[in-house]
Amino acid sequence: MKITVVGAGNVGATAADCAARKDIVDEVVLIDIVEGLPQGKALDIQESAPIHLFDTRVVGTNDYADTAGSDITIITAGSPRKPGMSRDDLLSINAKIVRSVTKQVVAHSPDTILIIVSNPLDVMTYAAYATSGFPSERVMGMAGVLDTARYRAFIAMELGVSVRDIEALLMGGHGDTMVPLPRYTSVSGIPLPELMDQDRIDAIVERTKFGGGEIVKLMGTSAWYAPGAAAAEMAEAIVKDSGRVLPCAARVTGEYGLNDIFIGVPVKLGKGGIKEIIEVPLSADEQKLMANSAEHVTANLESLNKLDMAATN
Ligand code: NAI
Ligand code: 2OP
Repeated sequence: MKITVVGAGNVGATAADCAARKDIVDEVVLIDIVEGLPQGKALDIQESAPIHLFDTRVVGTNDYADTAGSDITIITAGSPRKPGMSRDDLLSINAKIVRSVTKQVVAHSPDTILIIVSNPLDVMTYAAYATSGFPSERVMGMAGVLDTARYRAFIAMELGVSVRDIEALLMGGHGDTMVPLPRYTSVSGIPLPELMDQDRIDAIVERTKFGGGEIVKLMGTSAWYAPGAAAAEMAEAIVKDSGRVLPCAARVTGEYGLNDIFIGVPVKLGKGGIKEIIEVPLSADEQKLMANSAEHVTANLESLNKLDMAATN
């Protein structure tokens, strides 16, 4: 099997590295428009194989012919945010990039499964879906796995417990309106509200919502270790046909009362991509938060439509 990662920047190179280390596919291809960059990073990752002990071949290229026949394509091409920018500020720049990349990917790998990472995530995933013409089970966005990992890491740090024992659910768009769900969070089966008072839970939920921004403030650009690992985890679930239930940006068609947008929901992943969107009961308050997040995603999608209309007039 073959995984292509488009964009050999911080997130793309990390995703390729994580995917190679899993030793689950024959080949990982890293592609970028910058000459030498994907080749250099791919060679560097390949040279770590005797240390990490993987047999996956890692290829760097500027030519889409080398991506032909990919089973999974992770798209990270595009600008990351700088201090003071929101993910939404990246809309017009990254839409052009994601659409052009998607066209080239699809031309060489018509059966591939697309995992979009470029921001603003939910709208870029929609743009890739519309450009590809693929059925929606073969297009998804990576955000929930990252946001849930941040949420689980903060809970583990606060309680001094192993991250292994923390199960959590987080839904909604990849932005400040995301919806961590403490009611569906547990430590070895013990519901989180039994272990932490509401103020501490609220503080962790807030830190999670602004987790991306916290890192941008510290280092002047956005995160890549956890995002790259998250994209590779989704790819692994698909390659192994494991049926893992992970939060992904998926196209909803009535689930959670939402229609024709990509938004974070729990999905079952496996061969073919999204096997099922899982609907869990939400309280009235949780449903309100989800609707608010969906409104934000829809507004962003409308901004992209307006930009497209302005460009054609
Ligand atoms: P980066 O600047 O390090 O890398 C982006 C790469 O894309 C560069 O190497 C650039 O040359 C390449 N690129 C630009 N146009 C291209 C094209 N047409 N074809 C192929 N490659 C092209 O940025 P970084 O940090 O890797 O972030 C990438 C994207 O991922 C950003 O949009 C960022 O906001 C997003 N992101 C999303 C996350 C999520 O949870 N969904 C988490 C972290 C980042
Ligand atoms: C993050 O959450 C900026 O989306 C990027 O780190």
